[in-house]
Formats: sequence, C-alpha cells, structure tokens
Amino acid sequence: MKELIHQLPNNFLQKLRKLYPDRFESITSTFLEKKIQSFRINYTKTDLTTLRQLLSKNRIRFKELDFPKGAFLLKTPLSQLQKTDIYNDGLVYVQNVASMLSPILLDPLDNDTVLDLCAAPGAKTTQIVSLAPKVHLVAYEKARIRYYKLLTNIKTQGAGNSVKVYLGEGALVRKKFPEYFDKILVDAPCTTEGRFYIQNPKTYKYWSDKKVKEMVRTQKKLLGAAFFALKEGGELIYSTCTFSPEENEGMVDWFINKFRNKLTVLPLKIGLDNVQPGRLRWREKKYDQSVQLCRRILPNEYMEAFFIAKIKKLSS
Ligand SMILES: C[S@@+](CC[C@H](N)C(=O)[O-])C[C@H]1O[C@@H](n2cnc3c(N)ncnc32)[C@H](O)[C@@H]1O
Repeated sequence: MKELIHQLPNNFLQKLRKLYPDRFESITSTFLEKKIQSFRINYTKTDLTTLRQLLSKNRIRFKELDFPKGAFLLKTPLSQLQKTDIYNDGLVYVQNVASMLSPILLDPLDNDTVLDLCAAPGAKTTQIVSLAPKVHLVAYEKARIRYYKLLTNIKTQGAGNSVKVYLGEGALVRKKFPEYFDKILVDAPCTTEGRFYIQNPKTYKYWSDKKVKEMVRTQKKLLGAAFFALKEGGELIYSTCTFSPEENEGMVDWFINKFRNKLTVLPLKIGLDNVQPGRLRWREKKYDQSVQLCRRILPNEYMEAFFIAKIKKLSS
C-alpha cells in the first residue's frame, strides 16, 4: 500500500520530504485513505439542539467536535445523509473541517461588508452567512460552471438575501469596490496538494512545478486587488489547501513587502493540536519574521492540509 505513494509526482514528493523531513511518512500516509467526511451546521436554518435531535431521528451517526463549534464527523455513509431533509433542505453543509476555519477566523459580524473573492462552490460563502445572517456579502467566481453550483448552494442554504454574486474576474474588485470592505476572504485557487488522494489520479495528475508558478501569479493578482478593495483598518484572511510554501508563506511575504508598512500579519488562535507556525525559510528564500504568525494545518484522518493567514490593512 505504502508504495502507491510513488504514483504521486516525483518532484512533489521530493518537495514534501524537504518540507517535512520528520513527518514525511505520516503525511504521505494521509494520501492513501479517503478522509472521514464532515459537515457543519447552517445556523440560518437550525440550531444545535434541533440538529442533534434530527440527526438521531434520521439514524445518522455522528461525532460532534469541540472545535470548531458546530462541526460534526459523519459516521454513516454520506449517501445516507444525502437522502434526508436535513441535507436537502440545507440544514447542514458537507465540508472539510480545515476549510471551516477560514470563515471562523475572518469573524464576520452582522452589518459588516464582506468580500468572498474566490467563492465557488460556496462552502465558505454560505458559512459566512450562517455565522452572520445580516452580513452584506459580495461573492466573486470566475468559472461559469462553478458559479452555477455556487448559486444552487446559496439557494439551498437560504443565504440569498445576504449575498450578491458576480460571475467574473475577481481582480476587478480593485476598481469596482475601492476601499469598500470591512473583511475579505481570499480562499485562493491553488495546487490543492492537501486534497491528493492516491485512488483518484485526477486529484494530482495536473501537478507540476510550472503549475505552482502559475498559481502564484493568480494569487498575486487576487491578493493585490484585495488590498485596494479593503478599507483602512479592515482585515483579510488568505487561505489555501496546499503545502507549497511559494503559495503560502511566500505569498504573505510578497504581500506585506509589496504594501510595505501598510499591512500587518495578525496572530491566529486555533484550538487544534495539528497546527504549526508559518515557515520562515524555504529553499533560498528567507521570509519576513511576521510570517510565522500564519498557521499551517497538518492533515489527519479528517482534515485536509491547509494554510491560513490573517492580515490587517493599516493604511491605504
Ligand atoms: C479554492 S476554490 C474556492 C473554494 C470556495 N471558497 C469554497 O470554500 O467553497 C478557488 C475558486 O477560485 C476561482 N477562481 C480562480 N481564479 C479566479 C479569479 N481570477 N477570480 C475569481 N475567482 C477565481 C476558482 O474557479 C475556484 O472556484
């Protein structure tokens, strides 16, 4: 079974070994198994007491997590949950637990103006509304098919009144919404290394060093635009589901240097033990000290690898 790992791109494996020399075996072993599925409550439609009762009544077995609040591991097959009204009426959203962290750390409040710059299929868009039903949310998505999926999910989750959705290039927010948002989520397109699953070559066949560079270019474009759309004093979450430091610490380092003295990295409190500080070095690069305030989420049996940074705009 372990040898199957060598089906992954060789350059990726070499990079991962350099990144995590002591954890290489345990991390690669997470690519061999499907993750335990998880879901979260949709507060727009129900509360925790009612949801627990409905799950039990429908014979859905679950484990409720202490952190994040409102997150559940699914102990019955997903197909069984999908047959219930709980799922079909949008009382829950099936979502990886690591992905639930970005909206929680963004901390949206009622009446905040919030931008979700890379929104489809809408796990985090709908989570933002679930956390703050009276938020004024703008969501952008560039890919047409994914945009329609986003619209469907917003409808099922009952989030439509709080979100205005745009199909198009996210970088346009720079001109369309100058200094407009209190909070911005940039859940960036990335090489999705945290989602590699050995039985599904589609999850990793596209990977190459060139792809990493291509993603970095898109991430710079989106983060750069987000700076101009954020109000002075506003806060931004940048997240990816990839290991690659170029797309993670490297991006944050680029961002705070591009807008020198205008941005600061904020500390993050995450109540989990599979969490590491951001790296200060990668290959020949040495990053700004504050990059260690970012957090790497290490994968486990139910969490994908993830990276999160919180950045405050000090001045325009
Ligand atoms: C990591 S996924 C977002 C996942 C989503 N936030 C969620 O939690 O469901 C990144 C998304 O960004 C979109 N995207 C890529 N480039 C974009 C761009 N230039 N402007 C807007 N969206 C873009 C992709 O099509 C993809 O749907």
